[in-house]
Amino acid sequence: MEEKLKVAKEILAKYTQEHVLRFYDELPKEKQNQLLNEILTIDFKELTKLYESTKIKPSFENSKIEPISHITKEELSEEERQEYTKIGEQIIKEGKLAVVTMAGGQGTRLGHSGPKGTYDIGLASHKPIFEILCDNLKQAKEKYKIAVPWYLMTSEENHEDTIAFFEKNNYFGYPKNAVQFFKQGTLPMLDTNGKILLNEEGMIKQAPDGHGGIFEAMRKNGITYDMKEKGIEWVFIGGVDNVLVKMVDPILTGITVKRKTLAAGKSLIKANPQEKVGVFCKKNGKPSVIEYTEISKEMSEMTDEHGELLYGESHILCNQFNIQILEELGNNKLPYHVAFKKASYKNEKGEIVVPQEPNAYKFEAFLFDAFSIIPDMTILRVKRQEEFAPVKNATGVDSPETARELYNNFHHI
Ligand code: UTP
Repeated sequence: MEEKLKVAKEILAKYTQEHVLRFYDELPKEKQNQLLNEILTIDFKELTKLYESTKIKPSFENSKIEPISHITKEELSEEERQEYTKIGEQIIKEGKLAVVTMAGGQGTRLGHSGPKGTYDIGLASHKPIFEILCDNLKQAKEKYKIAVPWYLMTSEENHEDTIAFFEKNNYFGYPKNAVQFFKQGTLPMLDTNGKILLNEEGMIKQAPDGHGGIFEAMRKNGITYDMKEKGIEWVFIGGVDNVLVKMVDPILTGITVKRKTLAAGKSLIKANPQEKVGVFCKKNGKPSVIEYTEISKEMSEMTDEHGELLYGESHILCNQFNIQILEELGNNKLPYHVAFKKASYKNEKGEIVVPQEPNAYKFEAFLFDAFSIIPDMTILRVKRQEEFAPVKNATGVDSPETARELYNNFHHI
């Protein structure tokens, strides 16, 4: 440990982060060891660059943005529906489809103390979100006589609690051996001077590295490999917080296969040009998502000859990937975006500071940045009332209340 401590001190001195060891002596042995390991594995050079990037406003001026074509699920002919369903069902029945739920987010807006999936949105059944999602898989199991493998991405913060919740609830009646958990990566949070924040324990304050961390996490945890061994060819990846998500959708799978694209994404038509959502587009010829903060007013209002918004397909984090492209994505570093957040921390005096205003930089990769290495994607527009009921905020829009209403309306409860 002496040698480790010495090396850690040298690294910290080089990057003027010596305060990270401020409470080292007060930590129990195993925490000391963990802290040293974290110091030795953090990429300080990258962290310094990330801090520098907080001072630069991102520019998109050099990117060529164009609309991307989409297919509307509702407008498919009966023949097409049947054809895609048949292809998709075949893949499911042959055990070639897996589902990943990204549940590593911090859910700060919801403010629930446990993992978001453990939240009860107030259905009459009081099913927690994880169970609502699991219903998708149980129905598929009933219909196709196969347990679709379910992988859940957690984070350092909620991994143990998530597993304990599944255990306590007996995996909601789904076969335990079809469920696997894996942790996403983390990055230290920085204060406005670029100093690493310490958490209540006096350890490094780490935050999950964004939903874009999924590809690297799948590679590092051997998930992609495990899928390949199981003969998985297609992987649906969705968030934990949409209680109307269709995790097993033969039409989505079938249409992606038929169109020979290596990935697909579901979209919803924007409610109005000003709606604050990211929309699918092509950036420099490749599929992409342009954030509402990046799109100009004129562009967001542009329409085609039928009066439809040219940039009107919002991205809802419901995507499907071919295993081949997932492997490639796992080896491809995504850029980090910076967010300025409120984060409690332990100061030099050992006091816990709970800020009322944002005070810390958090760095996150976005899943859709990965689209840029995919030659083409199938964008399938679906109906909001059938497939999208997000739980983001504690009250108001996209809250448990709105999600419950959408869920009940769809299920005619
Ligand atoms: P959001 O972007 O809504 O973030 O995540 P969040 O962390 O859940 O909530 P806030 O912003 O703190 O309130 C969309 C989806 O991506 C997952 C979330 O769990 C959710 O399913 N996600 C997000 C991760 O798995 N890891 C992350 O690092 C971020």
